[in-house]
Amino acid sequence: MKTRVTELLGIEKPIIQGGMAWVAESHLAAAVSNAGGFGLIGAANAPADVVRNYIHEARELTDKPFGVNIMLMSPFAEDIAQLVTEEKVAAVTTGAGNPEKYMAQWKAAGIKVIPVIASVALAKRMERVGADAVVAEGTESGGHIGQATTMTLVPQVVDAVQIPVIAAGGIGDGRGMAAAFMLGAEAVQMGTRFCVADECVIHDKYKDRILKAKDIDSEVTGRSHGHPVRGLRNKMTREYLKLEAEGASFEQLENLTLGGLRKAVVEGDTDNGSVLAGQIAGMITKRQSCQEIVDEVMDQAERLLKIK
Ligand SMILES: Cc1cc2nc3c(=O)[nH]c(=O)nc-3n(C[C@H](O)[C@H](O)[C@H](O)COP(=O)(O)O)c2cc1C
Repeated sequence: MKTRVTELLGIEKPIIQGGMAWVAESHLAAAVSNAGGFGLIGAANAPADVVRNYIHEARELTDKPFGVNIMLMSPFAEDIAQLVTEEKVAAVTTGAGNPEKYMAQWKAAGIKVIPVIASVALAKRMERVGADAVVAEGTESGGHIGQATTMTLVPQVVDAVQIPVIAAGGIGDGRGMAAAFMLGAEAVQMGTRFCVADECVIHDKYKDRILKAKDIDSEVTGRSHGHPVRGLRNKMTREYLKLEAEGASFEQLENLTLGGLRKAVVEGDTDNGSVLAGQIAGMITKRQSCQEIVDEVMDQAERLLKIK
């Protein structure tokens, strides 16, 4: 399955592991790259020193290309933008903002730039300012989400831009991957499925919540202040939604989720923490290595697409 994305990133298989705050560190990223896909370190709100260590660790663990996901809203975004330039990582994906001002320096360093977008308008704008590809991420995804579904967003973005499109959101197996390719995508990005990978360092209780989740167990908090986030339903989301319905202020709601992802990922507090995961969690029922996940998804997709 050679596509423009496998060419662009120098990878064998068009499967990208989404950059995930607190979740996607060196071990996960390196394991996905070693499996023939493309691993991403999630810089999230971490300072540059932490991300530098992850990059160096990943280089110890793999000689394959990997990238860094930069949340442009992070207080350290500027530092991380410089860091990836110095480190010359293979690619950056960006979320929560417009990476335009960094584009020239990244390009000069030979870094491929792949913004994550949730609308046709943003995809076109990113193409105009020089993006190499876009990740079209549907609302089924775990984490911060847009409005359009993957099914509707991907073909509309494919029609609107010339650069390759990577589909994300709700893809958990080869059927999802094949479907995304039928919509015109040239690679897929998965987040939730990689959360339960053996090489993923998150707390076992977090993995168990995903493995036990049913189809309708995710909830979206934060719609009222324009920053919707999808995670699995728990004590925190119930409280959050109750406060939201009562018209609570942004600050009150923020207090409830402050450090929430860390609480779930590191401490395993899946009641009070933010257990970010997508709607596809209901289909994810087994722990596997990244190699097994990548091989299984590829094998199924290739059979369905009659490549095999
Ligand atoms: C726990 C978690 C944390 C995430 N953090 C980020 C992030 O920091 N930056 C980002 O661009 N996307 C983030 N995402 C989105 C993923 O990179 C990916 O696009 C998404 O998970 C794909 O949808 P799926 O969960 O249905 O596979 C996160 C997703 C999850 C599940």
